[in-house]
Amino acid sequence: EAAGQVLVASNRGPVSYALGADGSLTAKRGGGGLVSGLSALEPGTGTWVCAALGDGDRAAAGRRPGGRLDPADTGGQVVRMLDIPPDTFDAAYNGIANSVLWFVHHLLYQTPFEPVFDAGFEEQWEHYEAYNAAFADALAAEAAPGAAVLVQDYHLSLVPGLLRERRPDLRVGHFSHTPWAPPELFRVLPDAVARRVLLGILGADRAAFLTERWARAFADCCADLLGAEVNGWEVTHEGRTTRLGVHGLGSDAAFLRDRAFRPDVDERLAALREQVGDVRTIVRVDRTELSKNIVRGLLAFRRLLTDRPRWRGQVTHIAFAYPSRQDLAVYREYTAEVSRVAEEINAAFGTEGWTPVVLHVKDDFARSLAAYRMADVALVNPIRDGMNLVAKEVPVVSERGCALVLSREAGAAAELGEDALLVNPYDIAGTAQALHLALTMDVDERDRRTKRLSAAATALPPKTWFLEQLTALGAPPAGAA
Ligand code: G6P
Repeated sequence: EAAGQVLVASNRGPVSYALGADGSLTAKRGGGGLVSGLSALEPGTGTWVCAALGDGDRAAAGRRPGGRLDPADTGGQVVRMLDIPPDTFDAAYNGIANSVLWFVHHLLYQTPFEPVFDAGFEEQWEHYEAYNAAFADALAAEAAPGAAVLVQDYHLSLVPGLLRERRPDLRVGHFSHTPWAPPELFRVLPDAVARRVLLGILGADRAAFLTERWARAFADCCADLLGAEVNGWEVTHEGRTTRLGVHGLGSDAAFLRDRAFRPDVDERLAALREQVGDVRTIVRVDRTELSKNIVRGLLAFRRLLTDRPRWRGQVTHIAFAYPSRQDLAVYREYTAEVSRVAEEINAAFGTEGWTPVVLHVKDDFARSLAAYRMADVALVNPIRDGMNLVAKEVPVVSERGCALVLSREAGAAAELGEDALLVNPYDIAGTAQALHLALTMDVDERDRRTKRLSAAATALPPKTWFLEQLTALGAPPAGAA
């Protein structure tokens, strides 16, 4: 069993359960780039350790020995769901991970007012330590000698260090799915905490990122805050060297092309076409996430209608904004703001036969694919984003070619920048202008660009992303050629 054993650790696992009033459990596949990438873990090669995220997950984990989920729910993968005490989970996930670390890496703080690192923060930090220790304990117990462990994201930044203390025999990789803040922003964190995060990740043999830009920022933080020695992609601190890696993550062409042309997607396509009528479409699909910059996207669309009245009645903005992290007040407020601005635009410009903004908030993957297929323009304008897989999915299934308006601050811009129209995500006028250029792009040009975008977007499918990390750790899984 020892050779080739692979363990994966992430906060969110591949499924999450909803608990019905009658005690029944419904399994639902999780969203986000992390889960897409890790789905490449082949059944039979290892174990995926994740956290119970809510009551449904706790019930599901509690019904099975060791929290090992029913393989029927996981597509055959062995998934162990940890039941971390709710207070600890809440402080670690909603508090430290999503309100502090996510905010720092995505430039979301309004610094005159926040963050305020006081007693409440210190208490949350203790919980974050405990939550990370619970993962390290579970992984240490699960791992065969010499196993490879792939630890994911900012929720688990202390795990590599904690795991090294418990099991120095393991080969440990850490992967960040987010951007990494440059030192002058990372220094917002209290020094002891900033150092603890960096040292936690440096406990890994390899620390990997989605783009060179984020890997470089991490190295700069290590040099600046720890005085570590940085040599190319090697970071040495107190006699130990951690190698940095860059592994872009692309979309899965075979999966998308199959999934996007099934009857359920056809049905939704027909319904959407019926709803918007015979107009051009600007499509966006996101979690309702502060960093996705949905409100500025709406303002740019309004600016397009104001500056260039010829588009009124001619183009509809289809915006899918799916609920995310709704335990956090600021996310709930943002969700409300998105609806408010959409309604405002519809009230100002809508006519009997034309609704300028069609906003859907109920998560529906088949409908997202339908919107991708019919998009004339895709708008992906995050403030910052580790990669952004929507930008890498649309060109693959687009039926008639689709122009991509893309934030230069998304990781995907490094790979798609030549054929996308890049924008500064804060610049409403600039984004409106890019939307106009996208709508007026010559059809042949648009088609050529879409083909190149599609090739670039699928060059690093999840399986490649996953296997490359194992190979780089010196641990190619058994059976992988
Ligand atoms: C981003 C993060 C992932 C996370 C996903 C969804 O992609 O990098 O770690 O799983 O967002 O967010 P959630 O909080 O719902 O897991």
